[in-house]
Amino acid sequence: MCDLRDAQRTRAVIRELRPDVVIHAQALSDVDRCEQEPALANAMNAETVANLAQALDATRSTLVHLSTDYVFDGAKGSPYDELDAPHPISVYGRSKLEGERMALSYAASVVIRPSTLFGPGRMNFCDHVVARVKAGRTVEAFIDQVTSPTYTEDLAEGIGQLLGVIDRASITALPSRILHLANDGSCSRYEFAQRIAELLGASRAQIRAIRMAEQGRPAPRPPFSGLTTRYVPRLIGRRLRPWDEAFQAYLASTDRLHNIAPGAGSGWTGC
Ligand SMILES: NC(=O)c1ccc[n+]([C@@H]2O[C@H](COP(=O)([O-])OP(=O)(O)OC[C@H]3O[C@@H](n4cnc5c(N)ncnc54)[C@H](OP(=O)(O)O)[C@@H]3O)[C@@H](O)[C@H]2O)c1
Repeated sequence: MCDLRDAQRTRAVIRELRPDVVIHAQALSDVDRCEQEPALANAMNAETVANLAQALDATRSTLVHLSTDYVFDGAKGSPYDELDAPHPISVYGRSKLEGERMALSYAASVVIRPSTLFGPGRMNFCDHVVARVKAGRTVEAFIDQVTSPTYTEDLAEGIGQLLGVIDRASITALPSRILHLANDGSCSRYEFAQRIAELLGASRAQIRAIRMAEQGRPAPRPPFSGLTTRYVPRLIGRRLRPWDEAFQAYLASTDRLHNIAPGAGSGWTGC
């Protein structure tokens, strides 16, 4: 166990473990909390990465650092690829972009950008929709926020495959050390929630379209942060499957999902 804000402890853990690969998924991903506590956001999303990069400096480890689609402002209006210039509009996005810079300061690193995550583990937007739909309640979902939903199992498999073809020597030869890895395609939160309701056999009418401004959340979100990739198919010979197939796989596979109690998602505050 290690608090990555503690540089000394981070160094000691890395020295002790001597990992071949570090997959860095730690962050403060509560976008609204980041907006309200910028110093904490910076400590959790940038300084931790700097600590890790420094701790790895004397090692032969490969670093895979997870970043986010929220490094983009959403003005492009079509999927962002790895060559698009980031321009974050929130504290979270800016702190994650700084985290990318820190990760890339370590020579044997790649930055992976997924988008809206769902999968087993913590409550996420998908689980929130399931819980409310099962309880017969309506779900409010943004019609003006488009992302590329990313199933964590697919993301993990994709990272595993990438690690099969990327090693320390080849990292420097990569056309880009930033890679976009999200399920293929993009949809609004409203379409996302409607599709989940449909897959659960519920009525799409349980999903109510709202605009982001109506909720008055502290942090702005990019209106369009769908992702595409120039490089991932060249490296692993494929894109991740379309988000709709990933939804079906998640809903079909998890015991946890069937065990989500109606109403369990009401406290969900994720990004
Ligand atoms: N969630 C999304 O939709 C989304 C979308 C795009 C990109 N991302 C990126 O994907 C990555 C994972 O996001 P997530 O939403 O899965 O995050 P998460 O659920 O908040 O998980 C973050 C993890 O980091 C650990 N952690 C927090 N502070 C730490 C510290 N100081 N030292 C060590 N560990 C610490 C947490 O441990 P505890 O369990 O002990 O708190 C937790 O296991 C992040 O880089 C995020 O920016 C997320």
